[in-house]
Amino acid sequence: TGTALEHRVRDLALAEQGRHQIRLAEHEMPGLMALRERFAHEQPLAGARIAGSLHMTVQTAVLIETLVALGAQVRWASCNIFSTQDEAAAAVVVGPHGSPEEPQGVPVFAWKGETLPEYWWCTTQVMLWPDGAGPTLILDDGGDATLLVLKGREWERQGAVPSPQQEDPEEWKVILETVRSSLAEDPQRWTRVAEGIRGVSEETTTGVHRLYQLHEAGELLFPAINVNDAVTKSKFDNTYGCRHSLIDGINRATDVLIGGKVAVVCGYGDVGKGCAEALRGQGARVIVTEIDPICALQAAMDGYQVARLEDVVGSADFVITATGCKDVVTPQHMAAMKDKAVLGNIGHFDNEIDMAGLARVPDVQRVEIKPQVHEWTFTDGRSIIVLSEGRLLNLGNATGHPSFVMSASFANQVLAQIELHTRIESYPLGVHTLRKELDEEVARLHLASVAADLTELTKEQAGYLGVDVAGPFKPEHYRY
Ligand code: NAI
Repeated sequence: TGTALEHRVRDLALAEQGRHQIRLAEHEMPGLMALRERFAHEQPLAGARIAGSLHMTVQTAVLIETLVALGAQVRWASCNIFSTQDEAAAAVVVGPHGSPEEPQGVPVFAWKGETLPEYWWCTTQVMLWPDGAGPTLILDDGGDATLLVLKGREWERQGAVPSPQQEDPEEWKVILETVRSSLAEDPQRWTRVAEGIRGVSEETTTGVHRLYQLHEAGELLFPAINVNDAVTKSKFDNTYGCRHSLIDGINRATDVLIGGKVAVVCGYGDVGKGCAEALRGQGARVIVTEIDPICALQAAMDGYQVARLEDVVGSADFVITATGCKDVVTPQHMAAMKDKAVLGNIGHFDNEIDMAGLARVPDVQRVEIKPQVHEWTFTDGRSIIVLSEGRLLNLGNATGHPSFVMSASFANQVLAQIELHTRIESYPLGVHTLRKELDEEVARLHLASVAADLTELTKEQAGYLGVDVAGPFKPEHYRY
């Protein structure tokens, strides 16, 4: 206390509201609370400096305070310009025992509605610690924090940041400028930061995809734990989380009745499965698009029509992208959509819907209905409603997944951070998933809250199956 705590959030006066929500979330996050209790004395993260880049929501506040309870020092930014809950960010800065006048929590750099330069400034702040040091660990969602360090170091060693090209996406130009100005302040910054990092744990499908690509190209500098592919993450958060928060986002944004309408879900992976189920649950007729024959067949077996977007886009009332791919919805698709159709993305990045292409349609008009809800009108008078400017709508238009499902995801994150901090020798350079024992443990921590009683194997049964009475119960190749 006494020293000013660095931060940049909307308004610290929101901290009390945020604290109440955090308290209720804690009740719904048994996995994180059990880890706090188990590791309270051991302090396995003592000495760790964690740079976090993950949606700054109420649930993330519980994650941050769990990392701190386990001994870590933490700095945090959001991984999306629209996903911060300002009251949660304020509460984390103030901390459980501080006040807005004397914050005692964690440095957070995040607010809802950042510009892209502000977003990359915030990401830079979590990499810079007051004593000139950098983090020892990254906790990433989508890979932007990791990208900043790797690109910063690469350009630093090349002696120059590449010049922006006209055809570069807007965000890439911002990244180039962010690194250029950071190097002007401190020309060896990123080499030093990269050297201090032991590892990264990555939250989402898209970020994990980037990590495998980096490793194949020989560009990964530190080991990575793929948290997404813990079963208790991707088969829960991606599916059941989106089943909950997709509808929440659509309703808060538009309040258009879903029942009886036609909804197209692009992509039938873990996220798409949850989205399709939720829309069907509301009474929509759901159509799925897929490129993978296995997922297409799954969708058909689950009772959905499988079609190409161009063949059905004219009859859709809702089009939702959940692919992690780019240019899935093109300006041609948008021009063929029904009047007042709702278009949104729930995949990680904003390139699934070609928003830049939409903006270039001649004489197209954009009107803000309210923040994160825009009506785009074509010259023939028809319009479409685009959610969160093509960024993930469940976090832009609502508050993301509910606490219980995030408890499982974030318990995996905490275990991954402990692994990297205390057992780094078990993780050579590469991308690793957590051991199945840990995955089963995360699930176990959540059973009591849903009144689930687990059956125990007898010794004889266990011998018959060839597993231990205490697990793991499935071989590595099992797909759940
Ligand atoms: P996934 O890989 O399980 O599923 C994506 C599916 O899209 C695959 O089946 C793939 O074949 C299909 N696909 C790819 N390109 C396509 C195209 N052009 N047209 C139609 N289908 C196509 O990935 P997952 O876990 O479902 O994640 C999807 C995206 O959602 C990722 O960007 C991920 O990071 C993000 N995500 C977002 C969350 C949120 O809260 N908004 C939560 C979890 C993940």
